[in-house]
Amino acid sequence: MSDQQLWTDVDAYFTSALAPPDEPLAAALRASDAAGLPHINVSPPQGKLLHLLARIQGARRILEIGTLGGYSTIWLARALPADGRLISLEYDPKHAEIARANLAHAGLDKIAEVRTGAALDTLPQLAEEGQGPFDLVFVDADKVNNPHYLEWSLRLTRPGSLIVVDNVVRGGAVVDPASSDPSIRGTRRLIELLAENPKVSATAVQTVGSKGYDGFVLARVEE
Ligand code: SAH
Ligand code: DHB
Ligand code: MG
Repeated sequence: MSDQQLWTDVDAYFTSALAPPDEPLAAALRASDAAGLPHINVSPPQGKLLHLLARIQGARRILEIGTLGGYSTIWLARALPADGRLISLEYDPKHAEIARANLAHAGLDKIAEVRTGAALDTLPQLAEEGQGPFDLVFVDADKVNNPHYLEWSLRLTRPGSLIVVDNVVRGGAVVDPASSDPSIRGTRRLIELLAENPKVSATAVQTVGSKGYDGFVLARVEE
């Protein structure tokens, strides 16, 4: 059996025991698939991890950068109290439309809003509107802009906030200092910025599963 097959089987086992799909989650994936969206949403155990992190954090305001069909958005929004608020930023109008429909179907459209546009345009708008501080930020969009997304996340959070960044390992590619891949360069710059900024305390966790070998950054905004 290949390593990937084993990781997929173990993910399926943990998913069926601990993160089984309910109707709105399954419907969100079906609708995303039917619309031709890429299968790059977080896995069910990863979605449950985001959900638990948001609850452990006691999050009332969540910011997501990179919505796709709203699968991770549903996991995160379900962690919020009835008067909580989630804003998710998505570049592609088609993705945003599918995500809005999926959130409505999940009964989360009062809590979770999808804003269309390049995040580097919509993040300054959030700041101008006085949105935030966000208690949790999930960064999962174009990896080349991860350094900018860290800076905006720091502007829109408070001491004690949690910043989570997806896809920081990419099969181990992150370890190559000479990589010419703009996504890897963006993520390596993100790690450097985290390392040198005393206003944040961070780690990175490698993961395997149905999506292969990848990982998350977890960062706490410091006082
Ligand atoms: N968080 C989702 C997956 C997001 S995939 C989940 O786990 O379910 C990454 C998304 O980021 C894609 O939908 C892509 O269109 C979007 N994206 C790419 N570049 C972007 C940008 N500059 N601003 C906002 N969103 C962007
Ligand atoms: C891929 C996976 C992701 O989680 C993501 O945000 C972007 C791309 C991928 O596997 O290509
Ligand atoms: Mg991702």
